Amino acid sequence: MAGPSQGATAVSSGPIDDMFAALSRRPDVISFAVGAPDPALLPGQLVASLAADAFAEYGNSMLQYGQTRGFAPLLEKAHSLLAGRGITCSPERLHIATGGSGALHSVCMALLDKGAVVLVETPTYGPAVKVFRSHGAIVVGVESDQCGIRPEALDAALAQYDVALVYLLPTFQNPTGRTMSADRRRHVADVIIRHGVMVVEDDVYVDLRYRGEPLPAFWAFAPQNTVYITSLSKTLAPALRIGIAAMPVDLLQDVLALKQGIDMQTSTFNQAVAATFLGSEAETAHVTRIVESYALKLATLTAALEKHLPPGFSWIEPEGGMFVWLEGPSDFAADTLAARGLEAGVAFLPGTLFYADANPPRNRIRLSFANVPNSEIDRGIELLAALCEAS
Ligand SMILES: Cc1ncc(COP(=O)(O)O)c(C=O)c1O
Repeated sequence: MAGPSQGATAVSSGPIDDMFAALSRRPDVISFAVGAPDPALLPGQLVASLAADAFAEYGNSMLQYGQTRGFAPLLEKAHSLLAGRGITCSPERLHIATGGSGALHSVCMALLDKGAVVLVETPTYGPAVKVFRSHGAIVVGVESDQCGIRPEALDAALAQYDVALVYLLPTFQNPTGRTMSADRRRHVADVIIRHGVMVVEDDVYVDLRYRGEPLPAFWAFAPQNTVYITSLSKTLAPALRIGIAAMPVDLLQDVLALKQGIDMQTSTFNQAVAATFLGSEAETAHVTRIVESYALKLATLTAALEKHLPPGFSWIEPEGGMFVWLEGPSDFAADTLAARGLEAGVAFLPGTLFYADANPPRNRIRLSFANVPNSEIDRGIELLAALCEAS
């Protein structure tokens, strides 16, 4: 019997899956590992009433097959949502995907051939690296700083390689929490336009802002060169699998043809629920509530880090999102600490999971705070600090 394909091997389970499997057997562990919403804030009653309102408005059409590009009322709401982020594209560029992940996968199918080069930030969202590799791509990390990818390093990499795609997370990056300033967005966009290359902007955390002013999406600086991807997973509910993408029309035609072979369309039912949510007073009230709650958790987390962590550890408080990136002394090995953490009752992801490079730095940790009850954060960091001290 034939073995798994190269694509399947590239995405086969790794340390993140092992960690989540272990966590499912250990509900007592305080987990900073999961980048998911707080279960206590998932709006069950709201979703039930949105579904009832959607039925009253759309009737049985929400149980029927629909257009691959998306449910028209949701496409209209998505157009207004994106306009508020500086994405003023024509409506026919928009698409409703099965989560941000679905959008990324079908865009990769359309753009990547075996051996294609994808440039990513350093560090970057680890699961995306797996997706690029599953499409046969060679993934190259580009030097980045507190503001994101460095324009000079990007310029040099674009001159060195024949690049198919640049993958950026400009706002509240997973895993570092950092945000690319408006100036940096402009400089990076200049380089991108000069080289005539395509960017995927992954922007699923943008609504979780705790301080500072919103910035225009990277898309606004390079509209012809950017595929913009966002989703309702972090604000409404991941289970609805609603992703929103904006891209050039010719690329969208390819993406839609490919999506027909994957899942034909994103669930009409879920899109109707999302259409009833977006732009409603209920959306404003719910997003305000979760932002207040996560901002409080972030404050609890940074206070706990200050209180408990031994000298030599540093972090940068993000303006939004779900992550704090911790850096230890150069001889600190976070990757070997994760298993011991589980035994001690605290879970986190080692930073090594977020690099495309073969030899990533081992002294970093991603802490995800949204999913942890506020009352457990201090204790969790105390446990982590004890491990760091003993290591
Ligand atoms: C950076 C980033 N992009 C995309 C996703 C996937 O989101 P979705 O649930 O919309 O597929 C996640 C989920 O954690 C993420 O962190």
